[in-house]
Amino acid sequence: GAPRPRLTFLGVGPLGGTYAACYAELGYEVLGYDVDEGRVAKFNAGELPFYERGLDELLTKNLANGRLRFTTDIREVAEFGDVHFLCVGTPSRPDSHSADLSYLESCVTTLAPHLDRRCILVGKSTVPVGTSSWVQQLLDEHSPADVEVEVAWSPEFLQESNAVQDVMRPNRVVLAAQSDWAQQLLQAAHKGVYELAAQEDRDVPLVVTDFATAELVKVASNAFLSTKISYINAMADLCEVAGGDVAALARAMGHDDRIGNKFLRAGIGFGGGCLPKDLRALASRAQELGVGESLRFLAEVDEVNTRRRTKAVKLAAELCGRQVGPAGPRLDGLNITVLGATFKPDTDDIRDSPALDIAARLRNAGASVTVYDPKGMDNARVAQPNLTYVKPLSEAVEGADLICLLTPWEEFRHLDPAALADLVSHRRILDGMNALDPQLWRNAGWTYQGMGRGN
Ligand code: UDX
Repeated sequence: GAPRPRLTFLGVGPLGGTYAACYAELGYEVLGYDVDEGRVAKFNAGELPFYERGLDELLTKNLANGRLRFTTDIREVAEFGDVHFLCVGTPSRPDSHSADLSYLESCVTTLAPHLDRRCILVGKSTVPVGTSSWVQQLLDEHSPADVEVEVAWSPEFLQESNAVQDVMRPNRVVLAAQSDWAQQLLQAAHKGVYELAAQEDRDVPLVVTDFATAELVKVASNAFLSTKISYINAMADLCEVAGGDVAALARAMGHDDRIGNKFLRAGIGFGGGCLPKDLRALASRAQELGVGESLRFLAEVDEVNTRRRTKAVKLAAELCGRQVGPAGPRLDGLNITVLGATFKPDTDDIRDSPALDIAARLRNAGASVTVYDPKGMDNARVAQPNLTYVKPLSEAVEGADLICLLTPWEEFRHLDPAALADLVSHRRILDGMNALDPQLWRNAGWTYQGMGRGN
C-alpha cells in the first residue's frame, strides 16, 4: 500500500502525549511537540509527566524502536509531518465560561510559517463550534503562499485512566475534511486503528461529516454524560427523603438498554478537566449563537452537580452530630480523614476534583482534614497546601472522628471495616460515591452514610 503519513502531535499533555505514544505503537512515525521543555525532556527520557495506565510501556518501547520522538523545535515539526494533530488545551477563560483558544492560536501561527509542503492540520482539541474556519483563516494568513495547507477535524473521546484503550480501540472515529485529498490523508492517518480492529475482528464505526458536526460531537457527548450524572444525583436527593436506594434505582433503570447502566453512579458529582468545562463552554457558545434558551438546562445540570459538594459537607456534619446553621456547619475540633483526592480513581489528576474541593470545604468549616490518595497526593498538595497529607492509609485514618471516602479507588472498596475500627476514634463513614456495602459496615459497628441511600 501507500506509505504511511508521518504524524505530529502538537501539545503533549494527557491528550497529545497519549495519542503520540499510541500511534507510534500502531506503526506510525510520530513526533510530539510541546513548548514546555521540561515536559519534552521527560518524554524523551521515557518518563511520563502524568500518570496514565499502560502508557509507560508504550512510551519506552516506541522511543527505543525509533518511531517516537519529542521536540520543542517547531521547524522540525513542519519538516517532519504530513498530518499535524492539534492537541493543545482549551481551558475556560478566567472571566467567563467560554473556551480560551490562545494556545491553539499560538500553536497554529508558530507552525504555519515553516510549512513547506502540502499537509493537513487536524483539530483534536475540544473547541467551540465554528473554530475550524478560524484555524483555516490563521493558516491562510501565516503559511507561505505557495504551500497548500488544509484544516481537517477529528475529535477525540478519550477517558483518563482508560486513555490507551480509547485511542487504540476507539468506539467511533469522526472525521471532517474539505477536499478528497485531505479526506484520504486523514483516513490514512487512521489506518492503523482500522488494521488493529480487523486483526481483532472488531468494527470501528466511521462517521464522515461536516465541520460543525465534528466540532460539536465531543462537547455534545460530554454535556450529555454530565446530564446523565446530574439526573441520577437529583434522584439521589429524592431517594434520600423518600427512603429509597439510588444505587439500586440506577441498576434497575440501567437494565433498559435505551438508558444504559453507565454514568448513572450517584455521589458527590462529576469533576475533572473536561466534563465541567465542556458543559459550561457549550452553554456559553449556544448563548453567543443566540440559542442560549435551548441549552439553559445545562446551567441546572451544573448547579445540581455543585450542590452535591454542599450536600456532602452537610452529611459529614450531621454524622458527627453537628448542627447545620444558615451559614453552613461548623466542624471545629473534629478530625476528618478524606480518602481520595483525584477526580476519579486510577489517575493522578486533581483538576476540578469534587473530592479535593469537599476536603477543602471541610477544612474551611473548621475541621482538621487529613487526606490520603494512592496517586494524587503530590498534585493535591500543590493545589490545597492547607490540608494534611499522610500515607499510608492506616496512618491517615488514625484518630479520625469521621472518614469520608470520596474517590472510589479499588483499594478503598476492599477496606476491612473491622481492621479500620481499631484505628479510628469514632466509627463513622461517609461513602461519597456509594462504593461500599452499607450492611457490611453497619454490621461491624459503623455509622454508615451513603449519598441517596436512605438512612
Ligand atoms: C470525560 C469523558 O468520559 C470522555 O469521553 C471525554 O473524552 C473526556 O471527559 P474523564 O474526564 O476522563 O472523561 O472522566 P470520566 O470517567 O468521564 O468521569 C468524569 C467525572 O464524572 C468523574 O468525576 C467521575 O467520578 C464522575 N462520574 C462518572 C460520576 O459521578 N458518575 C458516573 O456514573 C460516572
